[in-house]
Amino acid sequence: MAKLWGGRFTKETNKLVEEFTASIEFDQQLALEDIKGSLAHVQMLAECEIISLEEADTIKNGLETLKKKIENEELEYAVEHEDIHMNIEKHLIDEIGTVGGKLHTGRSRNDQVATDMHLYLKTKTTEIIQLVEQVQHSILVQSKANVDTILPGYTHLQRAQPISFAHHLMAYFWMFERDKERLVDSLKRVNVLPLGAGALAGTTFSINRERVAEILEFDSIYPNSMDAVSDRDFILEFLSIASIMMTHISRLSEEMVIWSSQEFGFIELDDSFCTGSSIMPQKKNPDVPELLRAKTGRTYGNLMGLLTVLKGLPLAYNKDMQEDKEGMFDTVKTLDGSLKLLAPMIETMTVNTGAMRKAVTEDYSNATDLADYLVTKGLPFREAHAIIGQIVLHAIQQKKYLLDLNLEVYQEFSPLFEEDIYEVLAPENVVAARNSTGGTGQTQVKKQIELAETKLKSVEKV
Ligand code: ARG
Repeated sequence: MAKLWGGRFTKETNKLVEEFTASIEFDQQLALEDIKGSLAHVQMLAECEIISLEEADTIKNGLETLKKKIENEELEYAVEHEDIHMNIEKHLIDEIGTVGGKLHTGRSRNDQVATDMHLYLKTKTTEIIQLVEQVQHSILVQSKANVDTILPGYTHLQRAQPISFAHHLMAYFWMFERDKERLVDSLKRVNVLPLGAGALAGTTFSINRERVAEILEFDSIYPNSMDAVSDRDFILEFLSIASIMMTHISRLSEEMVIWSSQEFGFIELDDSFCTGSSIMPQKKNPDVPELLRAKTGRTYGNLMGLLTVLKGLPLAYNKDMQEDKEGMFDTVKTLDGSLKLLAPMIETMTVNTGAMRKAVTEDYSNATDLADYLVTKGLPFREAHAIIGQIVLHAIQQKKYLLDLNLEVYQEFSPLFEEDIYEVLAPENVVAARNSTGGTGQTQVKKQIELAETKLKSVEKV
């Protein structure tokens, strides 16, 4: 079949070359963006009197017909026409005749594909922001219900100090808040129009790029045509934000796997979010958080892949850049699926307050409070630390916890101990005492939740 660019060729393209160079298999996902960009371009061409109004109307009608076919999944794509841009142009010419060939006036596939990608990420970034908010909402729901749920906080995965479960969960709220801020900020660079850059150097036609930007609702246009067709930073940026976000999802997933183990028993995932074993009848496996943890790998891979594709490219367009798409589509799909599962999984999990409480009673995570107690009685912290260390050692040897030791025992280590230590050591008091701004004290956690609610509301308007 004759190629749209076949004029200077004397031979048919080798079949393997045709298949190897074609992107239609995956870039057909950009079909609606491609039509949208073409509609804006043709409108501008007519307004600038580069084509006539009738020609523009015929082309627009043809594009609208193709749009309907795309929406109904009726449009057929051919590898001979390489990519989505030439497939659509070919269909247009078949539909309305040779006037369809005027659509490509003053533009190149290089600025066209860049425009499609900008349009695509504009929509997807906005959708992902909304999905992140749903996850944040789920975190808030669980946090509000668990301000008074106390469990050990860990460092080095060793019990460290008692915390409110809400405080632990809210840490993830702020990670996702930063991810969202990054996505919102990236829209500044996504909302820039490449169209009108031509192949690389601009065009001889008196086009109006600002008008196209206005129709497509871009905030600005690329000031340099070579940068316009070569820039893929906005995709790299999306892939790196996605990678950071998947890191957060993965860390939370890891905690959910650990917490739902029998050894911890801190949470139980809803049956509808777990799977069983084909051999062991008792099993209830946390496959969803496990896969969320694993899918982080492909997201990093997509970022590394594109960074590597771009790093050695001379200006301007190079065919290498066609490799920017599959990784981007894959990351969008991965993030979309992950966020959609994470929100209900958090919301439906059962929090086992009893197991958490037991853990915090059967440990030494209140030891810091005992040291702080001696400090309030005037002892330098370092000396207090040493004394409590000896008391902990003594307690371990006696197979007791700090609350089980008699006051006489305490007073053998320091005369500063009085009856009120038992109050200081009680887990809820240990938590409440960390009332410094941003601390785990219940009063602080409630303030934090209030702040989070205002953040969620303000970003909803963006
Ligand atoms: N399919 C191509 C891509 O995705 C479109 C641009 C092709 N431009 C070219 N000069 N061959 O990158």
